[in-house]
Amino acid sequence: MASRHFLTLLDFSPAELNLLIQRAIELKARHKAGDIYEPLRGKVLGMIFEKSSTRTRVSFETAMYHFGGHAIFLSPRDTQLGRGEPIEDSARVLSSMVDCVMIRTFAHSTVELFAEYSKVPVINALTDDHHPCQLLADIQTFEEVRGSIQGKKVVWIGDGNNMCHSYIHAAKQFDFELVVASPEDYRPNAELVAAHSDYVQVMDDPLTATCGADIVTTDVWASMGQEEEQNRRAKAFANYQVNAELMQLARPEAIFLHCLPAHRGEEVCASVIDGEQSYVWQQAENRLHAQKALLEFLLVTHT
Ligand code: CP
Ligand code: NVA
Repeated sequence: MASRHFLTLLDFSPAELNLLIQRAIELKARHKAGDIYEPLRGKVLGMIFEKSSTRTRVSFETAMYHFGGHAIFLSPRDTQLGRGEPIEDSARVLSSMVDCVMIRTFAHSTVELFAEYSKVPVINALTDDHHPCQLLADIQTFEEVRGSIQGKKVVWIGDGNNMCHSYIHAAKQFDFELVVASPEDYRPNAELVAAHSDYVQVMDDPLTATCGADIVTTDVWASMGQEEEQNRRAKAFANYQVNAELMQLARPEAIFLHCLPAHRGEEVCASVIDGEQSYVWQQAENRLHAQKALLEFLLVTHT
């Protein structure tokens, strides 16, 4: 059977994604009950990180350990990848030794090229364009605390970045309404929005966008690789902060999510991220459980 990859949420069907979320909730309960479950004994995950990470690295590495397997951290600083060995060659070699490869990199085309030449499943652990693993944890979190996300309203405030793009895919796959409030120069990819116009609406005004929301979510104003744009972005996003006044426009039972790391006082106020409507710590923990379900799907269910 050909390997399945997880480069964006569109690589899985809505039914597969919903099963995966339910499985993540189940695996979390089993883990918390002390159950030892090692379906990946003898299996190895290669983890290529061309950008920094706390949550993604620790969650994948821990998931492999819990599952009885092993993870290898590969940074371009210490591998031939950083010295220009072609992606195609790296993919052929690595996938002849390990059972799955996870990649965090810049251009989305890099993970696509790697997957094309890989004999084993490839997981996108963040590119400039998408961050699908984070969305699994986000949806799991909402479903744990509020039930099905189908038909709900999600509001994205701020940069139309990789996370926002994955929310657009999620809106289609999980069938919810997404409203994005971004300054004109920082809107999500127009083609992606047009292709998902049944599910997503983009506007300037964060106040109008937030009315009646079930989830309010945001992300840093300058993503990894955009550090030099920080000052220009801080000016452009000054009116796009998630604060208590904005949260009041959402439904009373609305939850606040943030993929983290967060910059308090910039895209979100401390009173919101550290407040009662925030589920960001549960969301971060769920990276572990959601990715266990993903690894199980790719390496056990689909082999
Ligand atoms: N949310 C997220 O992907 O965090 P890290 O950058 O720490 O992996
Ligand atoms: N948009 C952020 C997400 C970090 C998890 C970035 O790409 O830096």
